[in-house]
Amino acid sequence: MIEVERIARQETIALRGSMLFEGDALTVLRRLPATSVRCVVTSPPYWGLRDYGIAEQIGLEASMHQFINRLVAIFTEVKRVLTEDGTLWLNIGDGYTSGNRGYRAPDKKNPARAMGVRPETPEGLKPKDLLGIPWRLAFALQDDGWYLRSDIVWHKPNAQPESVKDRPARAHEYLFMLTRSERYFYDWAAVREPADHGGLRNRRSVWPVNTRAFAGAHFATFPTELIRPCILASTQPGDYVLDPFFGSGTVGLVCRQEQRQYLGIELNPEYVTLAANRLQGLESQVIRIAA
Ligand SMILES: C[S@@+](CC[C@H](N)C(=O)[O-])C[C@H]1O[C@@H](n2cnc3c(N)ncnc32)[C@H](O)[C@@H]1O
Repeated sequence: MIEVERIARQETIALRGSMLFEGDALTVLRRLPATSVRCVVTSPPYWGLRDYGIAEQIGLEASMHQFINRLVAIFTEVKRVLTEDGTLWLNIGDGYTSGNRGYRAPDKKNPARAMGVRPETPEGLKPKDLLGIPWRLAFALQDDGWYLRSDIVWHKPNAQPESVKDRPARAHEYLFMLTRSERYFYDWAAVREPADHGGLRNRRSVWPVNTRAFAGAHFATFPTELIRPCILASTQPGDYVLDPFFGSGTVGLVCRQEQRQYLGIELNPEYVTLAANRLQGLESQVIRIAA
């Protein structure tokens, strides 16, 4: 059963098993107890891709720098919530200054909504430039005190074809592994991979994982096999894993399969319902945050 609850403003939330929060990531994070989650696995919205028409949504900032600063502020709060030996696994998409960034024809029914979806070319960049958002964010987090421990190339063997004739078609995204401390929990043996000539070898930094569409979600959902190694390497059974951009709740699904507890935060009520239905029967609770 899904429990719907309204919690009082400013109250620190007492954790009691896996929980799902409807609200803005930063607002909810501020109410979570310090050093309570061992691992965060998340994928924030792309910059300038789509407008869901919800106040507080991330991705519609006028400049790329504002977008990155806002994410850094959220991850500062994530750091407080992480245990000293905790790890953040962060997937973030890139884009170009022009083309393929979600430009839509004006929405006649709701003209305000279509506005702002196509940001200006950032200062210092030219038309056709790759934005480089993943690395800009990684460096900003490093400057903010995070230890940047690994860049993982998520290779997508089934990547969408692109009709471009003046550069290679993109078939990868980055997944960054960041830690709060110099020393942290990492179960290397749990995430070994098959070696070429049999047996197992230390996991490497290129992970081939096919993308999979999840019906009902209007954004890219995590493939379960992309995030399973993150959870297995950075937690033990019973630990809490947090996803502040929960979407359809894939992190919750893998947590239940691996006997971990999850905390999901999602702003869009439609996705909260989607995730709750997907996790139904798995004792998840919907906690609504008072505005
Ligand atoms: C790329 S999707 C995450 C998909 C997720 N990894 C999955 O497997 O389904 C990003 C999500 O962030 C949500 N979001 C946008 N702004 C937010 C905010 N301020 N606080 C919390 N969630 C937000 C969006 O509604 C969207 O569901």
